[in-house]
Amino acid sequence: MRYEDIRALVRLRGFRWDRVERTLGRCVTVADLRAVAARNWPRGVRGYVEGGADDELSLRRNQEAFERYGLVTRTLRDVAQVDTRTRILGHEAALPFGLAPTGYTRMMHADGEPAVARAARQSGVPYTLSTMATTSLEDLARQVPGELWFQLYVLRDRGLTKELLERVEHSGYRVLMLTVDTAVTGLRVRDTHNGFTIPPQLSPSTVLDMARHPAWCLSLLRGEPITFANLAQHSRTPEGVMAFAAGQFDASVTWEDLAWLRERWSGPLVVKGMVSARDAVRAAEAGVDGVVLSNHGGRQLDRAVAPIEVLPEVRQAVGDRVELLVDSGIRRGTDIVIALALGADSVLVGRPYLYGLGAGGERGAAAAIRMLGEEVRRAMQLLGVSSIGQLREEGPALVRGSGL
Ligand SMILES: Cc1cc2nc3c(=O)[nH]c(=O)nc-3n(C[C@H](O)[C@H](O)[C@H](O)COP(=O)(O)O)c2cc1C
Repeated sequence: MRYEDIRALVRLRGFRWDRVERTLGRCVTVADLRAVAARNWPRGVRGYVEGGADDELSLRRNQEAFERYGLVTRTLRDVAQVDTRTRILGHEAALPFGLAPTGYTRMMHADGEPAVARAARQSGVPYTLSTMATTSLEDLARQVPGELWFQLYVLRDRGLTKELLERVEHSGYRVLMLTVDTAVTGLRVRDTHNGFTIPPQLSPSTVLDMARHPAWCLSLLRGEPITFANLAQHSRTPEGVMAFAAGQFDASVTWEDLAWLRERWSGPLVVKGMVSARDAVRAAEAGVDGVVLSNHGGRQLDRAVAPIEVLPEVRQAVGDRVELLVDSGIRRGTDIVIALALGADSVLVGRPYLYGLGAGGERGAAAAIRMLGEEVRRAMQLLGVSSIGQLREEGPALVRGSGL
């Protein structure tokens, strides 16, 4: 028997020769992707992605809050055609969610932000590049033009912030997202226990940890050194950029900075990181186009409420003056459906796509988006709604239960 014949036979039995295809082919849920990524990553990287602040109460609460809600199905409705499209901040998205900004993404997989942005573009959902990205905003826009959003931290050096904004505008990013829940960085206990730092520093235990993950190490060594690429021109060495970036977090940012930004940025402006109805109303009055209810995935103030718990009261307070987005704890299509039914216009996901990226690069990130999208579609059909508009309109009758 010839080699080609054997190959054809094996193919008949569904064997995939490509290792990534094979692994992804066995994954059905985001939880499966998470398990694969967790095996691929050294302990320090795993802790950085998975971890929350302090006792990780908010991290757990985010998911538990979703689990407290139940869905009340409507039956005998024609759900043969279901439309998952919706407008998010003026953009027609194929699915009712976008990808949240995450810093240091090339550490999760050497292909980093461009891989995720390509997966997002192919799936028809927006991607948000972080100020703390490991690919510069210019490089990303050049490599993956499309519906791009930029997440901004107002830096201590306001001149530099202004310069950054000019670059964002010039590179064609459509939406600006100001993160407001990082006056200081939350205490990530796992990172300290694991000896994990940015940039990673070598100690006997981190070297041993990395040695157990040679594929991850090799792929990283082959690429450019990892750095905060948006700030790279302000320092010559990667280590220098890190110290510089750490010094740029500013605890004195106020509503005045938001007003300045509103004057300065003519496109859609969104604030991310509020969980209070009062703040959301004030942001609406300040002229923002959207508010992302978020506790940063449980990574900042531990014991911060889960955004999904406060969503109904925030919606009631702001009416439809601003678009409301929610993130933190979304792992399933049913979580997305619950958020929309409770009054969100759309949602963002963070860790789910990082799990996909860690499991299989661009294909893994695309798999995470596809899984969530298919789950949304199936949940809508089983729930008895055929459009996002209908889901939002009938929402209060479709959900039972109240947060925690
Ligand atoms: C590894 C990691 C890095 C993050 N980096 C940023 C960041 O640079 N800027 C930001 O606004 N939010 C950042 N976030 C928060 C996410 O944008 C988002 O709010 C959070 O991940 C949502 O929760 P989820 O992971 O449960 O979906 C990060 C989250 C993770 C997990």
